[in-house]
Amino acid sequence: MFAQALDRAAVELAADVRDGLSKFPQRELHSKYLYDDIGSALFEVITLLPEYGLTRADERLLRKHAGSILRRLPSPTIVAELGSGSGRKTRWILEALAKRDLTRYYPIDVSAAALHACRNELGKMDSVHITEIEASYTNGLKRVAARRRPGECLLVLFLGSTIGNFERKPGAEFLRQVRDLLAPGDALLLGTDLVKPIPQLLAAYDDPIGATAAFNLNLLARLNRELDADFNLRNFRHEARYNHAERRIEMHLRSEIPQTVHIPGADHEVELRQGETIWTESSHKFDLDEVQRMARDSGFVCEDQWVDSEWPFAENLFRA
Ligand SMILES: C[S@@+](CC[C@H](N)C(=O)[O-])C[C@H]1O[C@@H](n2cnc3c(N)ncnc32)[C@H](O)[C@@H]1O
Repeated sequence: MFAQALDRAAVELAADVRDGLSKFPQRELHSKYLYDDIGSALFEVITLLPEYGLTRADERLLRKHAGSILRRLPSPTIVAELGSGSGRKTRWILEALAKRDLTRYYPIDVSAAALHACRNELGKMDSVHITEIEASYTNGLKRVAARRRPGECLLVLFLGSTIGNFERKPGAEFLRQVRDLLAPGDALLLGTDLVKPIPQLLAAYDDPIGATAAFNLNLLARLNRELDADFNLRNFRHEARYNHAERRIEMHLRSEIPQTVHIPGADHEVELRQGETIWTESSHKFDLDEVQRMARDSGFVCEDQWVDSEWPFAENLFRA
């Protein structure tokens, strides 16, 4: 069973790499593949960088408002988290909940390393029972929805502005899918990074010690490890750009020379021109009205929004 799941994941990776690198004129690799064991560890480093204020803002809001968020939800409430990562910030929500209920927490992530870190971070909390779910967001949420007991309220967390990794239209469709898996009265707590000055954003995604560059380049190293590819990482450079029209940061990997890369595990070969880029991640930025519209368009009601005073970031409580 486990070996079959591993095989399926390898087949999916190979197919996605083939498709993404065949795209013209802009080649792509899906951002979910940034998070293998090394990528997840590098992401944790990024969250500590002085230039990356996003995680600290998210955490300040959760610490300050966890009590009032949970007072709006009935007992018993269980928690599922989409793309939990290490779950470090989630402690504030779980602690507030554990004061009144014995609760269950389901971190959902494609990265086994992230789930392992999450158990280390939160596994010893009193009154919280953790079940890790290694799956994509909606597959994981379906599994949680199937396990809920009558009368339980489900609180879904989608923190860190990970919604910003979706293009706006697929992001709206994704929120609709989440809504369809919930029951009336359930809630979604959505973290959204807000539009802010471009130099501040560029610094957050292209830090001077090169942690974000390493995170981005590790995607090619992953393809070398898992698909036996021959990317020479020294021939690529990390690039963060702001796309004004789409209000998003884009991360790319720029080919510094003309080169041919072989990827036997995907039965593929790619020729890259000098200066051509592979697009690896987008981080869309939002404003508060837009988030309220996103709630309405996906069948939620936006009940409240809390904004950090140091780094423009909002925690939004959506009700199903
Ligand atoms: C930007 S990190 C955010 C981590 C954490 N929630 C935070 O706020 O710091 C995104 C997380 O989502 C996971 N992830 C990315 N794409 C995913 C997908 N399609 N399904 C499930 N997890 C995914 C990654 O492994 C990573 O742990």
